[in-house]
Amino acid sequence: MDQITIIRPDDWHLHLRDGAMLQAVLPDTARQFARAIVMPNLKPPVTTVAQAAAYRERILAALPPALDFTPLMTLYLTDNTTTDEIERAADSEFVHAVKYYPAGATTNSDNGVTDLGHVQAVLEAMQKHDLPLLLHGEVTAAEIDVFDREAVFIERHLQRLTHDFPALRMVLEHVTTADAVQFVEAAEAHVAATITAHHLLLNRNAMFAGGLRPHHYCLPLIKREQHRQALAAAAVGGNPKFFLGTDSAPHTRTAKESDCGCAGIYSARAAIELYAEVFADNNALQRLEGFASCHGPDFYRLPRNTSTIHLRRECWQMPPALEAAGEQIVPLRAGATMQWRLD
Ligand code: NCD
Ligand code: ZN
Repeated sequence: MDQITIIRPDDWHLHLRDGAMLQAVLPDTARQFARAIVMPNLKPPVTTVAQAAAYRERILAALPPALDFTPLMTLYLTDNTTTDEIERAADSEFVHAVKYYPAGATTNSDNGVTDLGHVQAVLEAMQKHDLPLLLHGEVTAAEIDVFDREAVFIERHLQRLTHDFPALRMVLEHVTTADAVQFVEAAEAHVAATITAHHLLLNRNAMFAGGLRPHHYCLPLIKREQHRQALAAAAVGGNPKFFLGTDSAPHTRTAKESDCGCAGIYSARAAIELYAEVFADNNALQRLEGFASCHGPDFYRLPRNTSTIHLRRECWQMPPALEAAGEQIVPLRAGATMQWRLD
């Protein structure tokens, strides 16, 4: 199969940032995807429906007129989120989920939840109003090895959460381990997961190939090859619990190439082409549409898109860097060969 037409995909986990960076990165996503679940980890974070409405307007204002794209907004869960805010979110047309970050887990997560015990009433309200919970599933305890943070989160928290809130729809975001795949497969239908292109394409050797590779540093960290294989099997296997979420997270070159570099991989320039490569490599191109265009809207109870996109096998070079906001972003695959092209 050297070409394929699929329903236009959506990105169920995306960082768009704000201001000049938003302006620079938004066209990359909007060219490929009809909709995206937009992460709320701005500075300060998007914690209220009013802030989400204003952010949504800024995204729409930054959108080139020729591109058709709908941002799906999220709220950032904090220890102080109120049940009133959850009600307002559920009543709004544009807030589609609430995002849990453990405090200190990743970029701009200082306001994250310090203890899940603090948000039980809010989770009850989300369950009642059927508002999905998106989980950055890592523990941040200093004694836990950074490569084990996801597996320990599942053991310590996720098992209990899924049991205590049997009707709360949850997405374990950007899964990185075989443990997460097994957990989600075994869980009830209200538990799903997104998978990034970079976790499907790379194993942790990529962070150290010939030297330290800051542009392959993201959170949760990329894991061993056996985990990458488990993720690929889950993505291409056709199970509706798994769907596309790039976690494309732009940072400037200077912010990444630093003595304390930021976590985040920018994959938005050619995300659907990268996923196509994974599915083609696994002889499963016919299941790309389910993963990229059907399972996500079905889980979020939104209509599938009606237009289509066309991908064909063709080599091209990803630029070594992209100009953005007067600086540079180094994209995933920088300076290397891409195998698929979106028409
Ligand atoms: C994200 C970012 O930069 O906002 N970084 C990342 O490595 N994925 C935050 C996140 O999703 O953890
Ligand atoms: Zn993210």
